[in-house]
Amino acid sequence: MSTIEKFNEHVMGTYGRYPLVMEKGEGRIATDEDGKTYIDFGSGIGTNSLGYCDKDWADAVCAQARAVQHTSNYYYTKVQADFAAKLAEVTGYDKMFFGNSGAEANECAIKIARKYSFDKYGKDAKRYNIITLVNSFHGRTLTTLSATGQEVFHNYFFPFTEGFINVEANNIDDLRAKIDDNVCAVMFEFVQGEGGVNPLDKAFVDEIFKLCAEKDILTIADEVQTGAGRTGTFLASEQYGVKPNITTLAKGVAGGVPVGICLADEKCSGVLVPGTHGSTFGGNPLACAGGLAVVSKVSSEGFLDEVRAKSEYLRKKLAEIPEVEGVDGLGLMIGIRLKTKNAAEVCKACLENGLLTLTAKTKLRLLPPLNITYDDIDGGLEILRGILK
Ligand SMILES: Cc1ncc(COP(=O)(O)O)c(C=O)c1O
Repeated sequence: MSTIEKFNEHVMGTYGRYPLVMEKGEGRIATDEDGKTYIDFGSGIGTNSLGYCDKDWADAVCAQARAVQHTSNYYYTKVQADFAAKLAEVTGYDKMFFGNSGAEANECAIKIARKYSFDKYGKDAKRYNIITLVNSFHGRTLTTLSATGQEVFHNYFFPFTEGFINVEANNIDDLRAKIDDNVCAVMFEFVQGEGGVNPLDKAFVDEIFKLCAEKDILTIADEVQTGAGRTGTFLASEQYGVKPNITTLAKGVAGGVPVGICLADEKCSGVLVPGTHGSTFGGNPLACAGGLAVVSKVSSEGFLDEVRAKSEYLRKKLAEIPEVEGVDGLGLMIGIRLKTKNAAEVCKACLENGLLTLTAKTKLRLLPPLNITYDDIDGGLEILRGILK
């Protein structure tokens, strides 16, 4: 029985998978079960931020596996303390909660926002609504699906969690009209990832922060996809010149081991007290060891300059392809608008020709490893050019 047959017999069919069995990887190159190699412009959806099996990352995770692989959160571990301290130094947030995924990080953010208002204004104030944006994506748990501003996700699993109001991205009038006394938070992605690689306008972001400051409403940035260097700064918020009360991270922050992080500022970092939140695996030592290796490297001198330089190079080369209508996104989070070809078909053809890519709505999406080489960029571009022709 082939791997794919065995897999399909036993694993739920929640994904439309491509016929690729990944066996190993090194740097930016993945190898399948048959020995075919692929240049990876997808990084496991922006997660293998240092590519496959980066030596420092792998050494850190393996050493941790040989020391302590897990312990209850009733105890402390040095690696969780070290990872938290490093994240605090790099992001400017002193306090955080560790979970295991983007959805969990966002659940934590939502709980903080609601309890912040509950504690301060009381239950009767009904200050529990959260504004999220049309076309956003915040996760697959019932509450983060409710938060997600796409009708296509609001099906089958009724009843959904109440209290989410959608505002059109970049529509200041819509925001002003809906931000009332029952709102406790505004939650957004600086660049909508799954929604099509759409950056928010600076003026819209400024308006969110202005209104929220006036009304004591918390700002929540979902940086699950944009965070950890993906956009060319450690957090995308740096490029907008704002600091949200809460920022969530996951995907690339631990280089491929599961982690979700909810960073909170001094205004709301004391909201969750013993008994109000938790996670068995949250802050797992292997995840923290991987995370510490990633964050140390991504924040090291010159690393993000390189990310920005490679982003510029890749974008310029993409824009020169005649079949490309435009290139959206920030840093190495790239959405390509194609003139005539269908993005899903191009993504499939890329795979067949040894290039891993992604789609986001109608765009071809690229999230290459942050340490991709110019040679691999050129190699990937050559494959893409051939297909688009
Ligand atoms: C912006 C954003 N938030 C949340 C999530 C959910 O993350 P996870 O799949 O780790 O739960 C995703 C995943 O694509 C995402 O892009």
